[in-house]
Amino acid sequence: MESVSHENRKFEPHPDFAKDAYIGSPEAYRELYEKSIADPEAFWAEAAEELDWFKKWDKVLDESEAPFFKWFPGAKTNLCYNCVDRHLKGPNRNKAALIWEGEPGDTRVLTYQDVHREVCKFANGLKQIGVKKGDRVAIYLPMIPELTLAVLACARIGAVHTVIFAGFSAESIRDRINDCGATCVITADGGWRRERVLSLKNTVDEALEGVDSVSNVVVVKRAHGDPFPCHYKEGRDHWYHRLVQDQPIDCPCEEMDAEDMLFLLYTSGTTGKPKGIIHTTAGYMLYTYLTTKYIFDLKPDDVFWCTADVGWITGHSYIVYGPMQNAATQIMYEGAPNTPDEGRFWEIVEKYRATIFYTAPTAIRAFMKWGDKWLEKHDLSSLRLLGTVGEPINPEAWIWYHKQVGAERCPIVDTWWQTETGGHMLTPIPGATATKPGCATVPFFGIEPAILTDEGEEVDAGILAIKKPWPGILRGIYGDPERFKDTYWCKWDGKYYFPGDGARRDKDGYIWILGRVDDVVNVSGHRIGTAELESVFVEHKDVAESAVVGVPHEIKGQGLIAFVTVIQGREHDDHLRKELVEMIDKSIGKFARPERILFSSDLPKTRSGKIMRRLLRDIAEGKELGNTTTLADPSVVEELQRQYEEA
Ligand code: WT7
Repeated sequence: MESVSHENRKFEPHPDFAKDAYIGSPEAYRELYEKSIADPEAFWAEAAEELDWFKKWDKVLDESEAPFFKWFPGAKTNLCYNCVDRHLKGPNRNKAALIWEGEPGDTRVLTYQDVHREVCKFANGLKQIGVKKGDRVAIYLPMIPELTLAVLACARIGAVHTVIFAGFSAESIRDRINDCGATCVITADGGWRRERVLSLKNTVDEALEGVDSVSNVVVVKRAHGDPFPCHYKEGRDHWYHRLVQDQPIDCPCEEMDAEDMLFLLYTSGTTGKPKGIIHTTAGYMLYTYLTTKYIFDLKPDDVFWCTADVGWITGHSYIVYGPMQNAATQIMYEGAPNTPDEGRFWEIVEKYRATIFYTAPTAIRAFMKWGDKWLEKHDLSSLRLLGTVGEPINPEAWIWYHKQVGAERCPIVDTWWQTETGGHMLTPIPGATATKPGCATVPFFGIEPAILTDEGEEVDAGILAIKKPWPGILRGIYGDPERFKDTYWCKWDGKYYFPGDGARRDKDGYIWILGRVDDVVNVSGHRIGTAELESVFVEHKDVAESAVVGVPHEIKGQGLIAFVTVIQGREHDDHLRKELVEMIDKSIGKFARPERILFSSDLPKTRSGKIMRRLLRDIAEGKELGNTTTLADPSVVEELQRQYEEA
C-alpha cells in the first residue's frame, strides 16, 4: 500500500450535506467524541435511552472479568423487538422495511408490519419443531427476505443464529455445525447467482452426513417449482411455507439478558479452523444502532442499500440489525452485479431511488473496469452518501467512486472495522470529517485507537491497537476462551485489543489502514487464513509441504499464491494442480481458490527451519530479492523464481 503514503488530496463535506446532517461540523464531532472518551459510561447510557428495554441496566460497563467485558449488566431487552415491534407504534408501521429484488427480476416489498407478522410466524414455527432459547441455529440461505426473517426470528426467541455464507462448501458447513452443536438448519432449495441455481439444500444434505446434533432442517422454496428436485428427509426436513402457514401472527419476544448470546459468526484466523466469534445482545444492539445512525446519517426518508451478503458481519450489522433498529427502508438484492449485465446495480439505484449506497472496494474496482457507460445509462441523482468497507481502498478507486458515482457531491465513508468489532471503528463522520482518498480517518465515539510497536510504544506507523472496550466488541470465541485471550489480548498484556492490522497516523492525526500484519489475506473482502489452505493442501497424498501468501490483485485487492512441495518422486503437473483446486472448493469454497499454484522441491527456510514467507511474497510479486544468505538452501529460491517467470 505504498501508494497511499503520497496521497495528499482532501475533500471537505459538501455544505448542502453538512447543513442537514446529524453531526454537521468538525466541532460537533469533537465535542461528542471528547465526551465519549471522558465518560464513556455516561455517553453510552444516554445513547441507550433511544432504544427500548424491558428492564434498564444496573451498571453500564463491568470490567471486573476483563477481557470478558459486560455491557449493561442487569438489563433485559430483545433485538428483534427493537428492530420491528417498536416501529409498529408510530408512523413506521406501514413503511417499507425491505424492498427486495431477485436476480431474475422478481420483487417483493415488506412493510414493518409485514416483517413483524412473518417473523412471528417463523418464530412460532421454529418453536413448534423444538427450537428453544440458547439453541444454535445454522442459516444457509441466499439473499432472499427469508434470510432477514430467519435471523430476526432467532433473535426473537433467543436462539443463537450462525449464518453461513451461501458460497461455503459442505465441509465448511459441517465444521461450523459441529463446532457450535447446532440443532436446526434453515436453508433453501436454491438461490440465483449469475443465472444459475445454487443447490443449497443438496450442499446441506451432504454437510449433515455423519452430523448428530441436527434434528430439523427448514427449507425455503425459492428456486424450483414442484416436483422438488432434491432429497426430502421425512421427519427431519420441513417446508418453510408449510411450517409457517397456520402459525399465529404473534409471538412474544423472549426477554434476553444484556449478555445473552445473540449470534456466532465464523471467521478466519492465523491458525487452525475458523473461530466462532461471539456477539451478545445489548452492547451489539446499541453499537449497530448508533453507528448506523451517525455514519450513514440515516434519516426517515432514506433508501438504504448495503450490497453485502447477510452471511458476513457487514450484512448482520448493516442489513439486519443497524438499519432495522433505525426503521430504515432498505434494498436487498439477491444476485450478481453483472447479471444480466454490468449495469444491474445502477439500474436498481435508479429504480428505487437509493439514497445511501454501501459496497466494497473490490466491487468498485470491478465497476471501474467495466466502464462508465454502465453508469451513464442510469439516473444516480438520488444518491446522497456512499460507503466502502472490507479492505483498504486504493485512492484511484476512491476518486472514481467520488466522481462517477457520487458526482463529487456525496461524502464517502471508508469504514474500517471487523467481524470482531461488531460495527464501525474508524470512519469519517459524513457531515463533519474532511475525507482523504484511501483513508479511514478518525475514530467513532468511544473508540480510542493507538499505533504501537510490538513492545507497546506509541509510533506514527506500526500496529493498530484499541484501548478501552466498546459496546460492540466480541465477547469471546465459542468454546475457546484461551484462544480468545491469546488472539486479541496478549500482545500488549491485556492493555489493548489487537485487531491484526497495520496503520499509520498522518500530520492531521488521521489513521490510514495499511493491511493485515498477520497471515490473514483479504480476497475481495473475504477474510482467508493462509493456514487454512495450507492444511487442505497437505492432506493430498503427493504433497509434502505448502505455504500460501497474499499478493496485490487488481480487482480482488489481494489474491492467493500457493507454493507446494511434492513428495520426492511424485508427479507435479496440471493434473495435481486441478486436484488441489478441487480440494479447496470442497473444503472451503470456490472463493478461496488461489490465483496460482507453484511447485518446488523445497521451500525457502531459515537455518532454524522457519519458512520465509516474506521471501515467498517477494517472489510472488516478481520483486527483486534482497539478501538470501540466511537461507538454509539458496538454490530453492532460484528454482521458484524460474517457475514463477515461466508460468
Ligand atoms: C479486516 C476485517 C468490516 C466488515 C467486512 C470485513 C480489513 C475492513 C477495511 C477498511 C482497510 C479494512 C481489515 C480488517 N478491512 N474494512 N475500510 N479499510 N481495511 O470484516 O472479514 O472481519 O475482516 O478487513 O484488515 O482487519 P472481516
